[in-house]
Amino acid sequence: MMDTRILTVDQTAQAGEILRRGGLVAIPTETVYGLAASVFDERAVANIYTAKGRPSDNPLIVHLSDGKEMEKCCLDIPEEAWLLAKTFWPGPLSMVLTKRPEIPAIVSGGLDSVAVRVPAHPVARAVIAAAGVPLAAPSANLSGSPSPTKAEHVIHDLSGRIDAVIDGGPCQVGVESTVIDMRTKPFRLLRPGGVSKERLEAVLGEIEVDSAVSGSLTKEQAPASPGMKYRHYAPNAPVLAVCGPGEASARYISREIRENDGVICYSGQEMIFSKAKAVIGYGEETDDAALARNIFDVLRQMDLLSPERIFIQCPNDRALGFAVANRIKKAAGFHVISAPTEEIL
Ligand code: TXA
Ligand code: MG
Repeated sequence: MMDTRILTVDQTAQAGEILRRGGLVAIPTETVYGLAASVFDERAVANIYTAKGRPSDNPLIVHLSDGKEMEKCCLDIPEEAWLLAKTFWPGPLSMVLTKRPEIPAIVSGGLDSVAVRVPAHPVARAVIAAAGVPLAAPSANLSGSPSPTKAEHVIHDLSGRIDAVIDGGPCQVGVESTVIDMRTKPFRLLRPGGVSKERLEAVLGEIEVDSAVSGSLTKEQAPASPGMKYRHYAPNAPVLAVCGPGEASARYISREIRENDGVICYSGQEMIFSKAKAVIGYGEETDDAALARNIFDVLRQMDLLSPERIFIQCPNDRALGFAVANRIKKAAGFHVISAPTEEIL
């Protein structure tokens, strides 16, 4: 156990120093908090896996100070990658490209590719600048638990395991970056996230969605993104993802719940579930930005109330709702229910 320092957003220089010495610092980004280490320090990167309890074959995302730095980490960068960089960076998009040999294998879990992104959060950018090197940074949670969108989530999971956390308040986007593989054609969406599929397609034309996004993989299938094969974001209680229009999912859940259950619902619908043990709203049905911002926080809040089961109203796959629905379905182990849209008599 070590003493985990809590730094303010004005202490990015101290964070840079800790990183240059081979330490681990959790930093706010616009998506979720990341657990950073210098990308060239193999021991520090190994410590990330240990601190998180992360399987060593699940690769990390490398955070750059600007798009040009792609050349320091990647080879064979296609024209379209530069186009996406120009359009969406800084911002919540990670691109998988061919890895340069200078980037240690441990960073990308032994793969010959590497995921890179330029974060938009001013504190993340200041820390990268202060460290003077690109930073490898997965989400700063214990492996398998919901991603951290507040410094207190990081402290809950990793206090005593990392050198410091910078408290930058709640994250703006709330779900992680979109991950797209730029080495195959059509380009392939490996994880829906902060940049919607629609916005990517407006630039690239049609892209493919990896099969791991929509359902659990069978044992024989090797996922393109190793992170896809692990149970994720999961509270202790079993989660039931209930899809369909809000009215339909509300009707289904209100019929199914028992008094020890918890419900994560669209804001404004809480009264419908008054017989449940705990009810938490996470944003209006039409406000996918709010749903994204709050989903991980409400999963953690609900976990603390120890319900027997957790029902969640799950948005459709449009825009940011795609990322939110994906995280909910992963938390549910892809135990997904389609609420009937008509009354069955
Ligand atoms: O928004 C984000 O992306 C946050 C912040 C901190 O930047 N980071 C984050 O990292 O979510 P992490 O490690 O929790 O998720 C990275 C995902 C995993 O699913 C991983 O398998 C995938 O990206 N990934 C990373 N490198 C890859 C590669 N070379 N090929 C395929 N998938 C890769
Ligand atoms: Mg993660």
